Amino acid sequence: MSKITAAITAVGAYVPEYVLSNKVLETMVDTTDEWITTRTGIKERRILKEPGKGTSFLGIKAAEDLMAKADLDPAEIDLVLLATATPDMPVASSAAYIATQIGATNAFSYDLQAACSSFLYGMSTASAYIESGRYKKVLLIGADKMSSIIDYTDRTTCIIFGDGGGAVLFEPNEEGLGLQDEILRTDAIGREFLKIEAGGSILPASADTVANKQHYVHQDGKTVFKFAVSNMADVSEQIMMRNNLTHDDINFLVAHQANKRIIDATANRMGLVDEKKVLMNIQRYGNTTSATLPLLLSDYEKQIKKGDNIIFAAFGGGFTWGSIYLKWAYNS
Ligand code: UT7
Repeated sequence: MSKITAAITAVGAYVPEYVLSNKVLETMVDTTDEWITTRTGIKERRILKEPGKGTSFLGIKAAEDLMAKADLDPAEIDLVLLATATPDMPVASSAAYIATQIGATNAFSYDLQAACSSFLYGMSTASAYIESGRYKKVLLIGADKMSSIIDYTDRTTCIIFGDGGGAVLFEPNEEGLGLQDEILRTDAIGREFLKIEAGGSILPASADTVANKQHYVHQDGKTVFKFAVSNMADVSEQIMMRNNLTHDDINFLVAHQANKRIIDATANRMGLVDEKKVLMNIQRYGNTTSATLPLLLSDYEKQIKKGDNIIFAAFGGGFTWGSIYLKWAYNS
């Protein structure tokens, strides 16, 4: 019997309607469209404005989009994984809420958190369950309501992030398609450079932490940028070498959308001179953290063909980072 591999067999996505453009940000903080565009590549991002709606709303919408497109009966789903850095609440699994709301009545579910690498790590987790033969349908959702943890008076962070959700279905494949290889890494040197200080077990919420704005994302952008460029490029190059892939063999780079300059640097190191191979939608959504990779797959799904070689890459707080080599399994 041939080895079971874990393939992506369906994709779904959702972004909120409200568009926060660079022009509007110019009226909120001391910045310009020109600065944001040249330093990050971002022109606009989506924001979930409706009170009372959290990350689960984005995840449910993305899952519903996938189920409608793939004509998937939710009762057949074995496991719902939610990759997120912004769960609805610290306790009460958001994945459980999503699973129940979408009718995944025979599934178990849990949240998975690795900052901007959450979805990439989730791909590894979902694949391992499939490759083991234990489960047949794993729904991996990446969703973040970043606007809930951003200080819209801080120009160094509020220009970067946006809200969104995406979903993929992993199923067994016997043609050798799907996940081929992965290199995943962490290094806590990053703990000081990108964090939300308060609200966790070290510094629980208090009137002081709120007054000091310690529940918002703070980052040393320059340092994070440097580590992101070198680490994401390193693992992407390594995974190519380990699998005897040249730039000609690679059809697409699906990289975390944090900064266009970081994506370009990774693509350069991989020798991807053909811009069409480097999937990009940062200009429309900004950095949606756990949703960047599935949003790319959703936007470019029609161009990706069965058998295509895709390199996924991500970098995030922690630090966390990695690269995955996957063969696409279907034509849409
Ligand atoms: O996804 C998780 C991982 N996160 C990332 O990958 C983010 C990585 N970092 C970055 O993308 C970039 O570092 C930023 C986009 C955050 C910042 O770009 P930069 O080119 O590294 O700028 P900088 O922090 O070195 O700041 C350069 C200047 C500073 O002014 P001075 O000190 O030179 O006078 C900043 O105060 O730009 C200023 N600045 C701004 N100016 C206009 C910072 N933010 C802004 C702004 N508008 N929004």
